[in-house]
Order: sequence, then C-alpha cells, then structure tokens
Amino acid sequence: MKFQFVTKTKLLLLLLCTHLALNISAQTNNAIDTKVNTLLAKMTLEEKIGQMNQYNGFWEVTGPTPKEGNAKEKYDHLKKGMVGAVLNVKGVENVRKLQEIVVNETRLGIPLLFGFDVIHGHKTLFPIPLASSCSWDLEAIEKSSRIAAIEASAVGINWTFAPMVDITRDARWGRVMEGAGEDPYLGSKIGAAQIKGFQGTDFSSNSSIIACVKHFAGYGFAEAGRDYNTVDVGTSTLYNIILPPFKAAVEADVKTVMNSFNVLNGIPATGNKFLQRDILKGKWNFKGFVVSDWGSGYEMIDHGYAKNLKQAAELAANAGSDMDMESYSYVRHLKELVEAGKVDIAVIDDAVKRILRIKYELGLFDNPYKYCDAKREKELIYHADHIAASLDMAKKSIVLLKNENNLLPLVKTQKNIAVIGALANDKNSPLGSWRIGSDDNTAISVLEGLKNIGANITYAKGAELITAPTSFPEEVKVNETDKSEFTAAIKLAKKSDVVIMVLGEHGFQSGEGRSRTKLDLPGVQQQLLEAIYKVNKNIVLVLMNGRPLAITWANEHIPVIVEAWQLGSQTGNAIASTLFGDNNPSAKITMSFPRSVGQVPIYYNHYNTGRPGPKSEVFWSHYGDEINQPLYPFGYGLSYSKFEYSNLKIDDSNPQKVKIFVTIKNTSTIAGEEIAQLYIHQKIASIVRPVKELKGFSKVKINAGETKELEFDLTDKELGFYNNEGNFVVEAGAFDVMVGTSSEQGLVGVFNKK
Ligand code: NOJ
Repeated sequence: MKFQFVTKTKLLLLLLCTHLALNISAQTNNAIDTKVNTLLAKMTLEEKIGQMNQYNGFWEVTGPTPKEGNAKEKYDHLKKGMVGAVLNVKGVENVRKLQEIVVNETRLGIPLLFGFDVIHGHKTLFPIPLASSCSWDLEAIEKSSRIAAIEASAVGINWTFAPMVDITRDARWGRVMEGAGEDPYLGSKIGAAQIKGFQGTDFSSNSSIIACVKHFAGYGFAEAGRDYNTVDVGTSTLYNIILPPFKAAVEADVKTVMNSFNVLNGIPATGNKFLQRDILKGKWNFKGFVVSDWGSGYEMIDHGYAKNLKQAAELAANAGSDMDMESYSYVRHLKELVEAGKVDIAVIDDAVKRILRIKYELGLFDNPYKYCDAKREKELIYHADHIAASLDMAKKSIVLLKNENNLLPLVKTQKNIAVIGALANDKNSPLGSWRIGSDDNTAISVLEGLKNIGANITYAKGAELITAPTSFPEEVKVNETDKSEFTAAIKLAKKSDVVIMVLGEHGFQSGEGRSRTKLDLPGVQQQLLEAIYKVNKNIVLVLMNGRPLAITWANEHIPVIVEAWQLGSQTGNAIASTLFGDNNPSAKITMSFPRSVGQVPIYYNHYNTGRPGPKSEVFWSHYGDEINQPLYPFGYGLSYSKFEYSNLKIDDSNPQKVKIFVTIKNTSTIAGEEIAQLYIHQKIASIVRPVKELKGFSKVKINAGETKELEFDLTDKELGFYNNEGNFVVEAGAFDVMVGTSSEQGLVGVFNKK
C-alpha cells in the first residue's frame, strides 16, 4: 500500500538520519577527546590543578568573604594559568579583559569559564522558579531559560548555576523559592526543561550556555528549614524523592553538577564519594564535571570532617568534586597531595579532562571571545521580546486560591477601588532575592500595573513592611510595631467598594540564608488585614511571597485570595491583567500550603502510616489542635472557568502500557486552561508506597462549553520505584489511580499491573 510505503520510506530516512547524527556526534566526541588528551599531555601539574580552581570575580561578591586569599593573589594565579573558571564577572568588557589575560599571558592560553547565578532571568527577570513551576508549562519554562541564556550570554556569561532541583517539603527554608516545589516527577520535568532552555540544542551558538544542576544532594531537606542545617533522610527518600530530578538532569545532558553545603549520613556532600563517584559518575555515567558550592571545601573543617584545608582538598578531590569554588584548597594543596601520594594523578587527570572537554564543546578554544559581542550586549538586554515572554510567564504563574461568589474578575468600569499594602508600591520585592545580574527597582509595581490597565484606584500604604536595609545580603528587619499609617488606610477602605490588599514577604525574606520560623504574614500585616476587614469585607488579597504561607485566617474570612509570588520584571502588569480578567488564571501550587507552621514538613506524597485514622479516640496519627490536611494541597489552583471531570476509563490489558482516559468539560462561559493530574498508589509493595504519587499531567486549553478527552499512559517508568539498594524495581500488583484537578480532588479507579 502507498501509505505503508511512504511510512516505511520515512522510517528508513529517519533511521538513516539518526544513524548519521549519532555517527557525527561520535566523531565529534572522538575528535574532542583527542584534543583534550593532547592538551593534557602538555600540562604541568600546577596547570592541571589550575583548571580545577574557580575564583569569585574581582568586582562583585555573592557569598561570605573567603577566609583566605585576596585579589592580588587571584590575579597572580590568573596570570600563571592557575584559574580554570571565575564567577560573578559579567559585562562584555570585563569578561574580555579576563579572558585576554589567560589567553595571551598564560603558557597554554586555556580559556576561562564564566559562571553566574542566572536563576530566573538575567536582566529581564522572570517569576521566581517556585512561581513558574506552578504553571506546569514546560514549554514556557524552557523558553524563560532560553531567554535567560540569551541575555546572560550577551554579557559574556557562559555557565549558569541553575537549575536548582532540590525537592523541598519545608516552607521555612528560604530557598524553596529557587526550586520547583515538593514533587520529584514534576521537578524532574521542569529541571530538564530548564536545562534544555539554557543549553539550547547546539553549542556552536553563542547563546548556548552550560547549565549546572544543584545542590547534589539533599540540600532541600535542611532540618527545621534552617538553611545549611544537617540533612538526615532515609534511603527511600534519597532514592525516590531527592535523586530523581538530578538523574533526569543527567539524562537531559546537563554539563555540570554543583555539590552542596549539607552533610548526608554525616559526610559533607563535597567530600561524599557515595554521591559523586558511586552514584553520579558511576551508576549514572555522568560525563560532565562537578563544581563545589561556594567554599564548601573549607566548610568541611567546620563540619568536623576535615582537620584543615589540606585535608579538605584531599577529601573533596578523591570524592569526585572536580572544581573548587572559592575554597583555595585545590590551588594551595593539591600539588603536595599528589606528590605525597594522597591524591592519585589519575583523579586530577579525570577532573581536568572533564573540564577541558566542556570548554572544547563550548567552542572556547576556537573563539575564547565567543560571548564577548558588544553589539549583542547592547541589543539583547531587556529586549522587547524578552519582556513579553516574562509577562506571559508571570501570567501563567499566578494561582487563584479562592474566589468566593466570583468576585473576580473585576470589571474595568469598577469605581472606588482601594489599593492597600506597602508591597503594592514596591518595585524591588517582586524581583525576588536572586537577581544579582539585574537592576534594582525595575519591576512594574502592582500600582503601576493597575494604572497601566486603566483601573480606577486610590492607594494607601497602611504600614511599612520592613524597617531595615533592603540591600543584598543584609538581614531584613520587619516592621513589628509601627501602625501609624493604619488610620488613613482604614478611612480609605471604608469609602471604597473593593479593596485590593497586597501583602506578603519582602523580596529579601526568602532565598539563600533566609529561613523563617513563622509562616504568617510578617510584621503588622495580619493586623492591618483584620483592621481593614472590619470596615470592608470586599477584599481581594494579593499575596506576594517567596514561599507558601500559613494564611488560615485569611482563608476563613477573605473572599478572594490570589497567590502572585514574586513575578519578576512584569509583576504589576501580570497581576492587573489577572484581576481584571484579561488573563484567566490556570496555575496550580507545587508546594502544599500549611495551616500552621506546626504541620511542616507537609507534603502530599506521604506514607499512610499504620494508624491513618480518623478515629474517635486519640490513638491515630494526627494533631489534637489541627487537622492533618494542608490549607491548600499540592496541585491546587482555581480558574475563572469551571471544569468537570467524568468518564474515567482504565485499560490495563497491556502490562507494558496501562492506559487511563478521562473526559474534561469546560462548563463555564469562558475559555480556560486546566492542568489535569494523574496520581497512582501501589497498594502493597516491598517498600511502602506514598498515598499518592504524581505520574502524569496535561495542561489543556478548553473553550467554553467544550469537552476534551485525555489519555495518560503508565509504563514501568511510572509504575516502578527504587528499593533500598538503590535499584529500580517494578512490582506487579494492584494500584489506585486518581485523575483530577489537584492532589486531593479527582476521579478514582483501580487497575492491576501484571
Ligand atoms: C552559594 C549557593 O548555594 C549556590 O547555589 C550558588 O550558585 C553559589 N553560592 C554561587 O553564587
């Protein structure tokens, strides 16, 4: 048949192309290996160690000042070829200057890598990663990272320290803002999309930069949410929750991995052989290189693992940490350690090969100034297309948590709208705390956004949110006492028809080193909210924060709650268009919101326990003063549309591919997007399985009145899990399945995996 013929021809062509492509890439790999080996053979031991040394730039600092070392020493090392990479140097002129030094003045002229924390955009800022993860929109997330790479590469950067794929269950931890939340399945997909965006498809392009997945591993499980604290996790959690997003990153060809500050089973990650050699480079066959986190080498002394910097170097190098960021341990001690036989030269050669290989792959040997194009720098920064993409991502990240009586969307003709809250007039907080590449005070504030849309508003601050410096990296001091501006706000609220209150956290209250013990609205904001509520109940509460907050009172009293996170450069425009219906919200939270801080860590994919309850007497797993369930569960979020799920069908006749079908109808009069989620639960297994595990999702646009049928396929990849030996196993048996609108609401069924 003609059709078959065409299909066969196409198939043959496809196979041929794949074969050719694989062949070409194998040839390229071989060619690079040859170059790496030839160069390595010319290098002295000092020069090799130099490649394993990364220094902070000479212009900006993002971490604590290193305990040793100074700029002069760094320059000397640079000129002697004893630096392989720098961080925090940006701008074509600066990058070129440093690159010229190593290319022209060192014996072998090996170009530098320029690393930077390009976390959610470079100049044009996208929503913080926790926010954009709520979009569940892999395409948009990939695009955001692509644009971040375009802008970063335009200012000379060729290596970003992102994505952070640390799974986290504790909103007290300040860095929850930098990740994709609590779920390893979604987190793996998002991490891979970010890597694809940063690295692009072709390293010959000067907009492709290398990504760095971090922090390997366990950093998101800091005890009590206190940053840098001890991590103590069980084997099953390590294999099934913490490691999968890193494995997915390696499969997505991430070029570098950053280790972390924490210990795992009493061994600091930087000196941890099990993590770096056995798992990452062994089991997963990772071919890129590992960089330490800032000073995590010398921090092994404070951990009580290394007696001095020399031993720290020995432990880190032998454990597989290939490049030392700002510890000075390799550059000062590796040579004598090799000479004394404490570190094998093969360890050094392996690390250096990994680093050089990436420099070749990036094309830096052909053109060390590949990322130094002043024209690109001028043209691409804050490009209009980037701003538009940032607005789009921001709209996709806003979560509608509550909308009683469909108070939203507001109509543009609505008069007498009061806007209250210091954050409404803040152009800095919406940028989040990870925006070192960008410019302060450049976000569109909520007030500006509302004015841009033509809303008829009057503003009163109500209260200052913070009292002390807002500059990085000082500690934020919250206004806990000054309520002098309450009166004016109350007066305004009294005469208004609707009150938009913008409350939450200052931009510098989340991020690295910014843990909190409380998860309520900081300072006097709760009191302000209650004071306004007394005079006007028509409140639209817009939250701006970097972590889930425990807003139980607000949920009980306030009719509308919008979670707007920190949405980056276009914050105000995105919020205004959502409040007034130009944007129909579709995002769903990727971290459970607790009712009170005492429930933390709280997450949907927990075990059942032996006493799940509920029971009338006390001997079941619960609290006496609070229910177990979160305030808002993972995967929850509303829309102005209404979606109805029906017709769950299961076909488990093929054990290799169980098929699940569901029908979704948009029963409203407005088109919208729904994120349909599929969860499974294996009833009995050799290791107890979580009550629910996300194993599929689909974001679908459904027009008013329209019906769509979705199909989800479950293969061994989704149905298996890691046993306590770290092996992936698939066990036959009965599974519960749920497909629905959140981790708590959906249609349920059962199937058998043969
Ligand atoms: C410390 C942070 O933990 C890490 O994520 C970051 O990339 C480095 N500092 C470099 O700034």
